[in-house]
Amino acid sequence: MNDESLMQEARTAAEASYSPYSRFRVGAVVVADDGAIYTGCNVENAAYGSSICAEANAISSAAANGVRRIESVVIACLDGGECYPCGNCRQIMREFAVERVVVQDGEGGITVHEFDEILPNSFGPESLG
Ligand code: THU
Repeated sequence: MNDESLMQEARTAAEASYSPYSRFRVGAVVVADDGAIYTGCNVENAAYGSSICAEANAISSAAANGVRRIESVVIACLDGGECYPCGNCRQIMREFAVERVVVQDGEGGITVHEFDEILPNSFGPESLG
């Protein structure tokens, strides 16, 4: 599936968003190293800090199915323009060796980033020695 089709999948995933507090619907698609695809949306909570981001949700789903290396994470939001991952999600991506991050550019297109651009000089599993 190409990046544009994956972005469309991310938008579809965002439609399931449970975001009654922010009303900011986010969807994410993970492409695993074996090509398998996992999706997630943000799931909020009345205790705001217990909310889960779309990327964390999609990556957790992939990990729960045995994925340990991720090729791409594709992120869409339905209620805003550009949609870059939050800091915590960048760190969660780092754990599973994400190679590329694809975001919507706010003008109907996409922007592709190498992971090192998203989280330079990162701390990861290898850092523990
Ligand atoms: N959100 C995500 O799902 N991913 C991000 O990377 C940024 C923020 C969600 C969290 C919350 O439900 C809503 O967007 C507003 O912050």
